[in-house]
Amino acid sequence: TADLRLDRPIVLVGLMGAGKTTVGRRLAQRLKVSFHDADHEIETAANMRIADIFEIYGEAYFREGERKVIERLLSGPPHVLATGGGAFMDAETRALVKASATSIWLRADLDLLVKRTALRDTRPLLRQGDPREILSRLLEERGPVYAQADITIDSADGPHARTTEKVLKAL
Ligand code: S3P
Repeated sequence: TADLRLDRPIVLVGLMGAGKTTVGRRLAQRLKVSFHDADHEIETAANMRIADIFEIYGEAYFREGERKVIERLLSGPPHVLATGGGAFMDAETRALVKASATSIWLRADLDLLVKRTALRDTRPLLRQGDPREILSRLLEERGPVYAQADITIDSADGPHARTTEKVLKAL
C-alpha cells in the first residue's frame, strides 16, 4: 500500500469522536498526499469557531458553508478529507462526495464515541443535553446514511494507527 496512487480523494465520514481527523491525518501521511479537515477549513474561512457559527447564524448557515468548503476541496488534487459528522447527512454534499471521492465510514460504538467526545467541549450539538443520549440518537438516525459510504471501517478502541492500517488495506 505504500505506493498506492490515489485517483480520487478519500473522504472520511462518521460521528463526532469516531477519529476522522486523527485517522485522516495518518492516512494522508501514509499515502503521501495532503490532508484537509472540513471543520477547520470552515473555521478559517469564517474566521469563527464552529460553536459560534451555530450560535450566531444557526445550523442551516453552517451546513451551507460546509457544503461550499467540501465542494472546493473536492475539486482540488486527490487528498484525504475529514468531514464534520453532519456533512454526509446533507443530500447535496453526499451526492457530491459519492460522485467524486472514495467515501469511508469510520464506525465506532456508542461507548467509544461518548468517551472520545468527552475529551473536548467544542461540539455545539453535544451541549444541547446529555451527550450519551444525543450520540445514541444520532447513531440511530445517521447510521443508515453513513452506511451508504463506499467502505465501512470499524474504529476500535485502541491506537488510531491500527484503524489507519485497516483503511489502507481496504482501499
Ligand atoms: C457535527 C460534527 C462536528 C462539527 C459540528 C456538527 C455534526 O464535526 O462539524 O459540530 O453534525 O455531527 P466532528 O464530527 O468533526 O466533531
